[in-house]
Amino acid sequence: MPTMPTLPPLLIRQATLPDGRSGVDLLAIDGRIAEIRESTDPVLTPPAGTTLLDAQGWLLSPPFVDAHFHMDATLSHGLPRINRSGTLLEGIALWGELKPLLTAEALIERAMAYCDWAVARGLLAIRSHVDVCDDRLLAVQALLEVKRRVAPYLDLQLVAFPQDGVLRSATALANLKRALDLGVEVVGGIPHFERTAEQGAESVKLLCELAAARGLRVDMHCDESDDPLSRHIETLAWHTQRLGLQGRVTGSHLTSMHSMDNYYVSKLLPLIAEAGVQAVANPLINITLQGRHDSYPKRRGMTRVPELMAAGVNVAFGHDCVMDPWYSLGSGDMLEVAAMGLHVAQMTSQDAMRACFDAVTVNPARILGLPGYGLAVGCEASFVLLQARSPVEAIRLRATRLAVVRRGRVLARTPAATATLDLPGRPDRLDWTLPH
Ligand code: FE2
Repeated sequence: MPTMPTLPPLLIRQATLPDGRSGVDLLAIDGRIAEIRESTDPVLTPPAGTTLLDAQGWLLSPPFVDAHFHMDATLSHGLPRINRSGTLLEGIALWGELKPLLTAEALIERAMAYCDWAVARGLLAIRSHVDVCDDRLLAVQALLEVKRRVAPYLDLQLVAFPQDGVLRSATALANLKRALDLGVEVVGGIPHFERTAEQGAESVKLLCELAAARGLRVDMHCDESDDPLSRHIETLAWHTQRLGLQGRVTGSHLTSMHSMDNYYVSKLLPLIAEAGVQAVANPLINITLQGRHDSYPKRRGMTRVPELMAAGVNVAFGHDCVMDPWYSLGSGDMLEVAAMGLHVAQMTSQDAMRACFDAVTVNPARILGLPGYGLAVGCEASFVLLQARSPVEAIRLRATRLAVVRRGRVLARTPAATATLDLPGRPDRLDWTLPH
C-alpha cells in the first residue's frame, strides 16, 4: 500500500516564549510538539533529517487567531460604490446593494486572497460570519468551498449570520437552518437589528435553543449600537445558562455596554461571567463606527474590555472587517488589532498590555474551541516567529512575522525589518528593539 510522504521533524532553536522563557528549543514530530528543551536542560539531539529553524532569540508564539471576521465581504472595497458616510447603517445598505451582484467565483477569489494575507501575518485560525439572508446561499456555499480549500493551512470556522434579522427577514430562519445543514458550524444572530426589543429577545431565545438542539456553538452580533438600553447580552447570558451552553456562547461587539449605566453594568458583568459567555470586541471597527450620532464628547463605543476581563470573562479582540463596505483599511494584522484595543481601552499597565496579546492568541483560541492550541508537549506544532523579544514589544512594533509554522511545516517567511543607516559614529544597521 502506498504511504503518505512523512513530514521531516522540525527543530526550532533559541526561541523566547510569551511567558518570558528564553533560549528554548522545540522539536516538532508529525506536526506536534514532541519536546521542549529549556536552557538549563540537557542538549536536545534531533532525529536524522530534522529541519532546523534558528529563532535567534526572537519571540515564538502560538499563531494569531481572529474570533470575529466577515470573509464574505472582505476585499470588496469600492464595490459597487464606496461608503460615503463611513457609518454602520450605510455599510449595511451598501452590503445589501452588493449582495445581488456577488458571484461565487469572485467571492472565493477574494476570500482566498485574504487567507494568503492571513497566513503571511501568522493568522492561522479565523471565525467568519457568513450572511445567510440570501435565498441562493451563495456566500455560504462559496465560503464552505474556501474552508475546504484552505484546510491544509488555515482553520476557518463559519457562523450562520442573519444580517437582516432572523425574525425581521422573512426567509432568514429557514436559510440559517439550511446553512447549518450544509456544514456551517456556529449559530449567529443580530438581536439589536430586529424590529423591536421584544423580537430581539425572542431571536436570542430561538437561536440559543436551535444551537442547543443541534449541539452547536453560538456567536451573536449583540448590542452593536450606542443605545444604553440595548440589553440583549443580558438575555443571551440567561438563555446560555438556562440551556447549559456555558463556554459555548459568544457575545460579539457588545458596544452598548460602553454607554450603559454603571450601576446596571455592575449587575451585568457577574451575570455574563456566571453564564460562561465569552466576549469579542472589535476595536478597529468599534472606534470608527460607534459614537457617530455624538457631537462632543464622542463615545469610543468599544465594550468594557478590562472590566469584563476583571470579572473573569474570556475576551478576544477581532478584526471584523478588512477593505469592505464598513471599513476600507486593514491587512489581517492581529497586532494592529491588539494595538488599537490597547489604546482604546487604555490598557497600558504591563499586565494589561500583555493581556492584549492574549486577546489575539489564546483567548480567541478558546472561543473557537481549537483543539491542540498552545505551547506544550502534545500541542500542535503551529507558531509564529515574531521579530520582537516580548509580547508587548510585538504589539509596539507590529512585529515582522519572520516565520509562520503550521503543524510542523513552514508556511511563510518575511525578511527581518531593518534599515541601513549612514550616520557619523552610529551603527550602519538599525535595530528597532530595545538594547538588551
Ligand atoms: Fe461583525
